[in-house]
Amino acid sequence: MNSPSDIDTLKRRAAAAAVEYVHDGYLVGLGTGSTVGHVVRALGERVRAGLRIKGVPTSQETAELAKSTGIPLLPDQDAWPIDVTIDGADQVDPQLNLIKGGGGALLREKIVAAASKQLIIVVDATKRVPVLGGPCPLPIEVVRFGWPNTARRIEALGGKVALRERDGRVFTTESGHYILDCRWDRIEDPAALEMQLNRIPGVVESGLFVGRTTILIAGTPQGVEVQKAGRQRGSV
Ligand code: 5RP
Repeated sequence: MNSPSDIDTLKRRAAAAAVEYVHDGYLVGLGTGSTVGHVVRALGERVRAGLRIKGVPTSQETAELAKSTGIPLLPDQDAWPIDVTIDGADQVDPQLNLIKGGGGALLREKIVAAASKQLIIVVDATKRVPVLGGPCPLPIEVVRFGWPNTARRIEALGGKVALRERDGRVFTTESGHYILDCRWDRIEDPAALEMQLNRIPGVVESGLFVGRTTILIAGTPQGVEVQKAGRQRGSV
């Protein structure tokens, strides 16, 4: 079960389970990516059936999809007491620490996650790994000014740095920054690395989400696995 359509089935399963955590009157943070796309479409169906929620999108892509499905959105510049955010991830470790930012929305995703009472992460089961890193680069959003110097400081922490490009051009985030995709063989201590990265001038934010996940919902060929923060896998 590893073809793209099989993986998409697992993502859809996780999304269907996640929307059950959304209740009438909730303010909902909406992440970014293909798994969140399934979440937004499923939530839109519930809104059209009478569920009253408002959304806070983490990207233009998500905002457009949410609007097209009928989910009302709050303005970007608001104080949001978010009840629950549902977002995807590129990798998840057994402690529910994450690598995020494959879609380049990591800065807004982290701001929205930090404003949320709960963060539900939806993935297909292939995203679960014993240790973060390896084949999955860690995206780091950096200010464009002097970015090669910032890259050198990241390399001094052991990361192999590549400036993200898309369609032959340097990729720029919705906030106007660059993304450095940085490879570490094994990120043994994500909390320490996150702090070290945040101390580098020019680093805006990293895609390490440490200690933020409340619930992980992983789509598997057999159904969904739900893991709550602070619990071992399979013990919920
Ligand atoms: C975007 C993200 C996404 O949540 C992450 O890349 C997962 O995407 P997908 O659900 O398409 O696999 O962090 O910045």
